[in-house]
Amino acid sequence: MGKTSNTGSKSAKQKMWGGRFSAAPGELMQAINVSIGFDQRMADQDIRGSIAHAAMLAQQGIITQQDHDAIKAGLLAIKAEIAEGVFPFSDELEDIHLNIEGRLRENIGEAAGRLHTGRSRNDQVATDFRLWVRDYLDHFDAQLSDLMQALLGKAGENTETIMPGFTHLQNAQPVTFGHHMLAYLEMFARDRSRFQDCRKRMNESPLGAAALAGTPYPIDRDMTAKALDFDCPMANSLDAVSARDFALEALSCATICATHLSRLSEEIVIWTSAQFQFIKLSDAFTTGSSIMPQKRNPDAAELVRAKVGRIMGALTSLTIVMKGLPLAYSKDMQEDKEPVFDGFDALSLGLAAMAGMVRDMRPNKDRLAESAGAAYSTATDLADWLVRELGMPFRNAHHVTGTIVALAEGQGLTLDALALTDMQTVEPRITDDVYSVLSPLASASSRTSYGGTAPSEVAKQVARWEELLK
Ligand code: ARG
Repeated sequence: MGKTSNTGSKSAKQKMWGGRFSAAPGELMQAINVSIGFDQRMADQDIRGSIAHAAMLAQQGIITQQDHDAIKAGLLAIKAEIAEGVFPFSDELEDIHLNIEGRLRENIGEAAGRLHTGRSRNDQVATDFRLWVRDYLDHFDAQLSDLMQALLGKAGENTETIMPGFTHLQNAQPVTFGHHMLAYLEMFARDRSRFQDCRKRMNESPLGAAALAGTPYPIDRDMTAKALDFDCPMANSLDAVSARDFALEALSCATICATHLSRLSEEIVIWTSAQFQFIKLSDAFTTGSSIMPQKRNPDAAELVRAKVGRIMGALTSLTIVMKGLPLAYSKDMQEDKEPVFDGFDALSLGLAAMAGMVRDMRPNKDRLAESAGAAYSTATDLADWLVRELGMPFRNAHHVTGTIVALAEGQGLTLDALALTDMQTVEPRITDDVYSVLSPLASASSRTSYGGTAPSEVAKQVARWEELLK
């Protein structure tokens, strides 16, 4: 609804703002303010934080042991209610923090009011959100490990499976399917270490920063940090309640990881096409067309390919929410959670689907080998042979090879099928030893430099990863 006109009577204005916006100011405030619809996902973290805080208050003599015991029991009862799906979430109570505190008051009475001593919702939400993100990073770590295992399995079965390697999506040189799988394994390993780095940097506790300036109560921030498995308390209370760079960093890591998923997805889409037929996916990860019975669409791969849009969208949203915010807490920051929830859920689903597809895919070895030999993919090997065996300068060898490729092309033959006598018309010193490098398998097998595609090298990398992922 547009605010196009401020002319007319009051009643006309009321009409213009009618419909969905007819609510009274109090209701509008609630509608814009309420976050329980999404921040209830942090219930577990909120309860953990409160239990740690209450234990510290009791140890410091700020609340009695008796109040502590009642608070702790009450919080555990709430945790159970939430797990059973019977907790009465209420919009009137705005967010997860007030919902839980309100319920605690219903359950244990006055002692509930002592829980919030030396704390504010500002450090509380910062703590909850950090714990939530950290929990999810641990989940990503396990998922990435699983995906790496899946890729490693496929690589191990295919150290000698020859396929075309591409540059510009044009046949370049033969590689092995295992080598290709390991390329992705390396990428996901870096994603994993990026998340681990991010986790290290974010693992400091905001709890006890209170509203923004700290608190006069004799709290022990080291104790709550330790109880929540943080490395230490954050050293500046203003920073503690204002910082969301941990979420931005996690979303940045997620975005990079999603680009890797997207690239592999794209390959799966290409590889399953009728033109390529490099791999087969089972019905578990494909769908049929409603009108074209012959079709088997790689929907899962396409959806994983697209997820990066959402995830980078989340990073963009949160970056823009945070830019220009003055210290310390502003309510803008309540808008931090939904993008992170959505972006992380998207990545998690993408990682799970990809691990499933990798385990499911069956390389079509005949087709891969045939395609590997197409388009004169071993021309470089011929040139290298001329350099090595005949001492030809590489530039000359390149020229001779070009002439031989043209000859083969004229006869409609692959290089390894061209007659020696034909090659000798171009360069008489060529011997039949040349055939030892002209097949795709020979070509790939010769690339034994560290990190190269030779089956022997790929097998070494498989062994290395098996050791690392044990
Ligand atoms: N629901 C709020 C959030 O997510 C909690 C913090 C509220 N703090 C405040 N000063 N109003 O940001």
